[in-house]
Amino acid sequence: MAAATRLISRLTLVTGGGSGIGRAVCQRLASEGASVVVADISEESAHDTLRSLQRDLRGQGHMAAVVDVSSKESVKNLVTRIQTHYFQPPSVCVNAAGITQDDFLLNMDEDHFDNVIRVNLKGSFLVLQAVAQALVACGAPKGSIVTVGSIVGKVGNIGQANYSASKAGVEGLTRTAAKELSRFGIRCNCVLPGFISTPMTDKVPEKVISRMKSLVPLGRMGEPAEVADVCAFLASDDSRYITGVSLEVTGGLFIG
Ligand SMILES: NC(=O)c1ccc[n+]([C@@H]2O[C@H](COP(=O)([O-])OP(=O)(O)OC[C@H]3O[C@@H](n4cnc5c(N)ncnc54)[C@H](O)[C@@H]3O)[C@@H](O)[C@H]2O)c1
Repeated sequence: MAAATRLISRLTLVTGGGSGIGRAVCQRLASEGASVVVADISEESAHDTLRSLQRDLRGQGHMAAVVDVSSKESVKNLVTRIQTHYFQPPSVCVNAAGITQDDFLLNMDEDHFDNVIRVNLKGSFLVLQAVAQALVACGAPKGSIVTVGSIVGKVGNIGQANYSASKAGVEGLTRTAAKELSRFGIRCNCVLPGFISTPMTDKVPEKVISRMKSLVPLGRMGEPAEVADVCAFLASDDSRYITGVSLEVTGGLFIG
């Protein structure tokens, strides 16, 4: 099927859809015909993304929703709201919500460690679990859950003990989910971005960015749309025989 229409009639949920990579994923899924639930802790950003979505393909209907992925109750309410609105659970879910709270290991507050693990790792678990439970309960024939990890989950990064641990964690979570959920037709994969231009990396000092750029074989930072393209592939049936993998989108940064 042509990429431009391969997600027609698919209901998709994107967390962290209000900004950066999540927003680009929403735009890409919508451009391929999917209906998109833009979920974010920031209502305003979720609505900004919603307004930017293409909506002229068959049967498309998007919505924005507020969720705190680190709260079980909030995630449960989100999935219930989606099922009430669309009479089905999302068969594609992209976990892109994430935060950083950087500091050197020797100084890192316990709170900063807990916050990042709670949003990035526990949040991915809660959303993955709630979506998988809803898909299994309604006997859906297939599902694809994509979680945005990070290359630093594999290689570590100075100042990011909490973040690297959370991103290594989502890979273990995803591989286990892939093993447990295959028998229900649900595939689970990770995308591991390198350095991508988003509000998250806008916070990184210029000096660090230019050092990082010099390490990237393709010689530049990535764009959110370049990560979104890979998420759309993993969401679609073009990747129907792929589960439990981590796909690096790094411009070659830290090639094994
Ligand atoms: N930008 C990069 O270079 C890069 C690299 C590797 C991985 N990532 C990962 O990609 C994902 C998206 O990052 P980004 O760069 O687009 O960042 P971003 O800050 O632009 O977007 C993150 C979004 O997540 C939302 N969010 C934060 N906490 C939330 C919560 N508790 N519940 C729901 N939504 C919440 C924010 O409101 C924001 O809209 C993150 O998981 C990040 O760790 C980014």
